[in-house]
Parts: sequence; structure tokens; C-alpha cells
Amino acid sequence: MPLIKIAPSILSANFAALQKDVSAVENAGAEYLHIDVMDGHFVPNITIGPLVVQALRAGSSMCFDVHLMVENPDSFIGSFIAAGADLVTVHVESVRHLHRTIMAIKEKGCRAGVALNPATLPDTIEYVLPLLDLVLLMTVNPGFGGQNFIPLVLPKIRIVRTMINRLGLKTEVQVDGGINRDNAATVVQAGADVLVAGSAIFNRNDLGAAVRQLREAAVAGL
Ligand code: DX5
Ligand code: ZN
Repeated sequence: MPLIKIAPSILSANFAALQKDVSAVENAGAEYLHIDVMDGHFVPNITIGPLVVQALRAGSSMCFDVHLMVENPDSFIGSFIAAGADLVTVHVESVRHLHRTIMAIKEKGCRAGVALNPATLPDTIEYVLPLLDLVLLMTVNPGFGGQNFIPLVLPKIRIVRTMINRLGLKTEVQVDGGINRDNAATVVQAGADVLVAGSAIFNRNDLGAAVRQLREAAVAGL
């Protein structure tokens, strides 16, 4: 089991040749396929629905990591799990009854994650943390690929990692937004163990080399 997981975000992939890009990162050893779902309401952009997830599922055995950036995620959880999601992450800012939503994901046999925007306090997940497989800390404001990493989130990575370790949990800490070879070691040092990267991987010509180099840079922070 690798200590660091790489989660290429297909938001920056070539949508006209998605399967080819997915196979390239899978063959390079990326553990998660990060799938950004946006509804034009929670964030100012629209992306992928369950049909795309289902189509990709047929050609990949990676862990499908579905990041729901939508209002009322409760109404979409079932269809993304049926389409092949292995892990579903909801934003604490979009959910009214967080415990109920987490349980709805887990009851369907899926792993559950909760995401926090850059300005959201870590305390919001304190009482549900033992239920979570993953905490996603946004290191940009959600909605677009290719934005700059916000270093103000680094102390929150440390706080969440400490909360998890104190309880002796195996919950993963995922960082998402502006992650690249230059800051990978820094986020790992702060406590992240799953690195999402969109533009840093898919904007390169050699996707396999991009995955391997990001992992090398990240492991240097262990
Ligand atoms: C942003 C998405 C990210 C995005 C990351 O709202 O959640 O997953 O694809 O893209 P980069 O790595 O380019 O910042
Ligand atoms: Zn994402």
C-alpha cells in the first residue's frame, strides 16, 4: 500500500479522448481517478454527470473518486454510486444534515468523504470524523482547474491531520487545487496523503511521466 496516493482530476483531461487519458494515468500507477461534478449552482461551472462515470467504469479498475460540487448532493448520491463511484465526497457547505448524508453514502456500500472550502473551519467535521474515509481540503475555491494553490490552507491540513491521528483513524487527507511538483512535498509535510492534480498532469504531453514525477515530489515530503 503506497503512503501517498495520486488522484488525477479529469477536469483537465481531453474530453474528446477521455478513455485514452484515463488509461494513461491508470497505467502510470495513479490510485484514484478524481471526477469533478459541478452543477452551475454550488460552483459557477458545469461538468460531468453519472453517464460519463458509467462509461468510464467499463474501461477502468481505478478507485473512482467522485467530488460532488453541487447543491443538494443527496439527490445525486445514488445515481453516482450506481454508475460506479467507489468514493463519494460532498461539501459541508452544501449539506444541511451532514451525518444523514454520510450515512446514506455508506449504507450503499460506498466510501464517504467530506470536502471543506478554503474558508471553512475544520471544526465542522469534528463530530463525524470517525465515519469518514476521507477529508478533502480545497486548496483553491472550487469551480475551475488551473487556479493557484492557496497557502493559507496549510495550517488547516495540519489541524485535520492532528484530529485524525489523535483518534487513531485511517481517514485520508486529500488536497485539491493548484497541486503540482513545486508544492507537493509541502502539503505532504503538513499531513496530506492523497494529492489531486488536474492541470499539473493533463496539461503535460507525457501523462505517465507527470504522474510519476508528482509522486516523487510528494514522497520527498514524507
Ligand atoms: C476544482 C476541482 C479540482 C480541479 C483541480 O474545483 O475540484 O479537482 O480539477 O485542478 P488543478 O489541479 O488544475 O487545480
Ligand atoms: Zn476536485
